[in-house]
Amino acid sequence: MALLKIARMGHPVLLQRAEPVADPNAPEIRRLVADMIETMLDAPGIGLAAPQVHVPLRLFVFHLPAARSGAAAVAPRAVINPRLELLGEERVLRVEGCLSIPGLRAAVPRHLRIRYTGVDCDGAPVGGEVDGLHANVVQHEYDHLDGILYPMRITDFSQFGFAEELARVPPLGQETAS
Ligand code: NI
Repeated sequence: MALLKIARMGHPVLLQRAEPVADPNAPEIRRLVADMIETMLDAPGIGLAAPQVHVPLRLFVFHLPAARSGAAAVAPRAVINPRLELLGEERVLRVEGCLSIPGLRAAVPRHLRIRYTGVDCDGAPVGGEVDGLHANVVQHEYDHLDGILYPMRITDFSQFGFAEELARVPPLGQETAS
């Protein structure tokens, strides 16, 4: 396994629509997923999309540590060729970061509930109907596959800034970096 170089905001790979993975079971995809999980955990972050490591394919990895999610923990997993459905109208503001935008954080509106599907490296289905941090990280990662970075979702720029500065004021929500 290997640590991968993470593209930073401004690199064109982060702005393009990624292509579907032709064969989720291919050895090179399994290797990519293993390297992405290692890179995500090392960063550390809770999610990482393939375009962030300069691979414009529709897959991402994420995990939910029990201490962070306040709900069921999710071990590191890959979601290949995901489909995302936003459920209902309810939205929540949650403080997000991104490994491609180091040092910055913002309160970003996201749908509270989603349904997503995809497959893992074995071709087994993953996903389900989820809410909270799980729904948040999946929406953030899915956006990466469409060339969307969280600053494009900000509605209140007074809550966009450097993490060190935002840490001085009461937190709006749980912070994530993905
Ligand atoms: Ni990100």
